[in-house]
Amino acid sequence: MNKIIIGNWKMNPASQKEALELFDAIKAGVKDAKAEVVICPPFIYVSSLKFPAPRGARLAQFHGRQYSRLKLGAQNVFWENKGAFTGEISPAMLKSSNVKYVIVGHSERRKYFGETNEDVAKKLQAVLEVGMTPILCVGENEGENREEVLREQLAGVSGFRLQASGLIVAYEPVWAIGTGKNCRPEDVKKAMETIKNLVGDVRVLYGGSVKADNAQEYLEVVDGLLVGGASLNAEEFIKIVEKGS
Ligand code: 13P
Repeated sequence: MNKIIIGNWKMNPASQKEALELFDAIKAGVKDAKAEVVICPPFIYVSSLKFPAPRGARLAQFHGRQYSRLKLGAQNVFWENKGAFTGEISPAMLKSSNVKYVIVGHSERRKYFGETNEDVAKKLQAVLEVGMTPILCVGENEGENREEVLREQLAGVSGFRLQASGLIVAYEPVWAIGTGKNCRPEDVKKAMETIKNLVGDVRVLYGGSVKADNAQEYLEVVDGLLVGGASLNAEEFIKIVEKGS
């Protein structure tokens, strides 16, 4: 199966103009990529990023749709589809905005917004119910036991029919996110085996200080990458995509 390279822009860039420039540069650079490429912008930019039509498609028919290998993702979601939940965005809204993938349970959501494993399980279920693909983030903090943490974080979701749903699990050790500290590929491999033992033969990605010059070693052990900081630099991100092609 082809590799999947996901850019998580987090709360960046600072303006619509910069978001469009970054997106256009990435779009041009990955148009012949064999890897599947997913961009997860902040919600406010979701509707302004224009994904071109699949090659050979009639433009009118495919207006607003995406290149088959370049897809739109979201960084978060709420678990209800409508109602009085000020400030939240629903799975139905994302689906109707052409979003195909949704990051669920990112460590920054767990740390700064108090998301629990129960919240994450509800979000996961809601995303699956509307037919989008969840990217479930798991990973230990510095000093924690990796196996134990993965077991705890995945306990609430092991009852779902995950394999059939196309679920993606991203192993992101918290201590490796944005720090420049890299997890050894052999440890990523062990984490991947633990994840597959717990939830079945799902696709597993690695995330945490991935750059163009270390992407290859991770791609040898996992199905793809979840890239934060380096996805904000079009040139660097395109180089990472090329490694996965
Ligand atoms: P960095 O690539 O900036 O370390 O971030 C990883 C991440 O959290 C992606 O979701």
